[in-house]
Amino acid sequence: MTRKILVTSALPYANGSIHLGHLVEYIQTDIWVRFQKMQGHTVHYVCADDTHGTPIMLRAEKEGITPEALIEKVHAEHSQDFADFLVQFDNYYSTNSEENRQLSGNIYRALKANGKIATKTIEQYFDPVKSMFLPDRFIKGECPKCHAKDQYGDNCEVCGSTYSPTDLLNPYSAVSGATPVRKETEHYFFKLSECVDFLREWTRSGTLQAEAANKMSEWVGEVGENKLSDWDISRDAPYFGFEIPDAPGKYFYVWLDAPIGYMASFKNLCAKSQQAADGSQEPGLDFDEYWKKDSSTELYHFIGKDILYFHALFWPATLEYSGHRTPTQVFAHGFLTVNGEKMSKSRGTFITARSYLDHVKNPEYLRYYYAAKLNGSMEDIDLNLEDFVARVNSDLVGKYINIASRTAGFIAKKFDNKLIAAKHAVIDDMRAAAPAIAEAFAARDFARALREIMKLTDAANAYVAEAAPWVVAKDDSKAAELHAICSNALEMFRLLTIYLKPVLPNIAAAVEAFLNVQPLQWADVTQGLDAQTIQPYNHMVTRLEGKQIEAMVEANKESLQAAAPANTEAKVEAKAETKAAEEGDYISIDDFAKVDLRIAKIVSAEHVEGAEKLLKLLLDIGEEKPRQVFAGIKSAYDPATLVGRLTVMVANLAPRKMKFGMSEGMVLAASDERGGPYILSPDSGAQAGMRVK
Ligand code: MSP
Ligand code: ZN
Repeated sequence: MTRKILVTSALPYANGSIHLGHLVEYIQTDIWVRFQKMQGHTVHYVCADDTHGTPIMLRAEKEGITPEALIEKVHAEHSQDFADFLVQFDNYYSTNSEENRQLSGNIYRALKANGKIATKTIEQYFDPVKSMFLPDRFIKGECPKCHAKDQYGDNCEVCGSTYSPTDLLNPYSAVSGATPVRKETEHYFFKLSECVDFLREWTRSGTLQAEAANKMSEWVGEVGENKLSDWDISRDAPYFGFEIPDAPGKYFYVWLDAPIGYMASFKNLCAKSQQAADGSQEPGLDFDEYWKKDSSTELYHFIGKDILYFHALFWPATLEYSGHRTPTQVFAHGFLTVNGEKMSKSRGTFITARSYLDHVKNPEYLRYYYAAKLNGSMEDIDLNLEDFVARVNSDLVGKYINIASRTAGFIAKKFDNKLIAAKHAVIDDMRAAAPAIAEAFAARDFARALREIMKLTDAANAYVAEAAPWVVAKDDSKAAELHAICSNALEMFRLLTIYLKPVLPNIAAAVEAFLNVQPLQWADVTQGLDAQTIQPYNHMVTRLEGKQIEAMVEANKESLQAAAPANTEAKVEAKAETKAAEEGDYISIDDFAKVDLRIAKIVSAEHVEGAEKLLKLLLDIGEEKPRQVFAGIKSAYDPATLVGRLTVMVANLAPRKMKFGMSEGMVLAASDERGGPYILSPDSGAQAGMRVK
C-alpha cells in the first residue's frame, strides 16, 4: 500500500549559520525520507527558516539592515548549505510568509472560539532606553545565589541555579545597558492547563519514544494532578513577527507561529503543485487532506531533544483545539558532541557546514558517519574526528568501492564492457537481507542498517579475494570464469548501492551511471542486472586525509580567526587605507609604484618552534638567494601544501629582525571575519621574480 507521508525537520533560526550539530537532524531526516521514497511511498519533506523574534530583530538592527533583508540573506545561505549536504527538501520556505500569517491568524481565532485563549496582566522588565520589554536572555545581572556578575536572566552559568529575572541583583539590559524597570502589560495566553487530559493521553499513545513519553509524564503530571501552566503566546511591540488579529501592538510569540511554519511550507508546496498540475491529469497536492482532523495521511516531526516540550505539548494541543490532525509521531534525537565534548569555538570544534565543505568537501563522508552513529534514540552522538577519518576510509573506500574498483577493469578490458547474468550464494544472502535492512532504516536505526550492510560488504570482499580475478585473468582459458566473477561482484556492488542509496545519494547516482541502470529503487533488489553493457569505471570516492580535518579545526578556532590577518603590518595598513579612502584621500600612482610586488615561488615552508601563528617561508623571486619571510598563515595552511606554489610578496619592505630571525619581505593574504588568511596565486604563466603592478 502506498502511504502518504509528510515529514519535517525543525526550522533553523534565521540568525545563525548551519553547523555540524544542526546537520545531525537534517541528514537524519533526509536519509529517512529518501529511504521512504525508495519504497515507493508518497513523501513530502518540508522545512523553512524560523524568522521571528527579538534576537533576529536586534541582530538586523546591529547589522544596519531590515529584518527582512537579514532573513533573505540567511535563507539563501541555509538553502545552499542544505543543498550541498544533499538534504533534499521538497520545499524550504520561511515563517515570514503570507501563508504563515494567515494560518497563524486562523489557528488563533479557532483557539479563541474554542475558549482556549485568555488575557492576563503581568509585570515584566522593560528597557526604558530602548522602549521595549526584555526577554529573559536580554537581562543580565548578579546571580542571587553565588553573586557571580553578568549572568543571564534565567540561570547562572557559574553555580547553575535557575531563577526568574526579577530575582537578579543589579539587573541591566543587555541591549542598552540601562537599568530595567518593572512595567505592567497585558499578555495573551493559550490555556494549556485545560488540555491536560488530552495531552496525557496523546503523549502516551505511541506518538513519542519511551524516554520522551516518560519525560512528558513528569511535565504533565499523573492523573488527577495538573502540572501544566498556561502558555504566554504574546509579545509587545517592538517585535519582529505577526501582529495578533484584533490586538494592535501585540505580536505572536515566535514559538506560536514557528511550528505553524511546517503547515505554511506545505501549503506553499501545495500551491506550487497545483500550478504544475494545471492542465495535466495529475491532481495537485491537497492541503486539507494532510491537515484535517482524522486525516489518513501520516505526519512526522524530526526534532532535537531540546525542543521536545514545544513539539510534544504546545504543538499537539494547538492542533487539537484548532480542529486539525495531530502528529503521527515526533522523533527526538540527541545532541552532537565532537571528540566527546560539547562543540567549542576555542577548540575549533564548533564547525559550520560551510567550513566542513571548504575543507573536507565531500558531504557523503559526514552523512555516512552520522548514519553509522544514529540509532533512533535520544542519546547524544559523538563525532570523533580520528574515528571519522578511519571509518570513512575503511568502510567506504576500502570495502564498498573496492568491490567495483577491483573488478570493473576486467569487464572493460576483456569483455567489451558487457556483463553476464550473475549467480552466487553471496548474492542470494544479500537479497535475503533486504527486509531486515529496511526494517532498521524505517525504525531510524541507521547504525543497525549499516552494520548489516557492512557485513554483506565484507562477504562480497571475501568472495572477490577468494576468487582472485587478477590471478584468473592471467590464464586465457579461464575467460568465462573471470567473466562470471566480475559480473557477480558488480551485482553485489549494485545491491549494496541500493541499500546505501538513502545515505549516499551522489555515489549511488554515479553507480547508476556506471552500471547503465535507471535510478535504483528498493524493489530493484529482486531483479538482477541483465547481461548488459556498462560504462567505463571511474573512481567514485577518494580517501579522506587527516590533514583536511586538522585544517578544518584550525580554521574554526576562534582565537586564531580573530588574529586572522596575515600579519599586523597588513592589518594596520588596511585600516589606514580604508580611512584614507573614506576621507577622499587617495594615493597617487607614484605612491603605489613605491611598493615592489613580486611573484614568489615558495621553495620551502616550515613550522617555527614556539610561534603560534607563523610559518617560515623561503621565497624565490629570481634573486641569487631565496628570501626568508615569516608569514602569519599557520592557522590556514599546512606547510607541505605550500611548497612549489607561486604567490605574491612585497619585496622592498625594510628587513625586520624578529624573535625567530630576519624577515625579508611580506606575503600578501586576504582575510576578514568570514575566514582566511588566503594567500594569493597568480594566473598560470607567471614566473618567479615577475613584477606585479
Ligand atoms: N527554531 C527552533 C525550532 C523551531 S521548529 C518549529 C530551533 N532552531 S535551532 O536552529 O536552534 O535548531 C534547529 C534544530 O537543530 C533543532 O531541532 C535542534 O535541536 C537541532 N540542533 C541544534 N544544535 C544541535 C546540536 N548541537 N546537536 C544536535 N542537534 C542540534 O530550535
Ligand atoms: Zn550563581
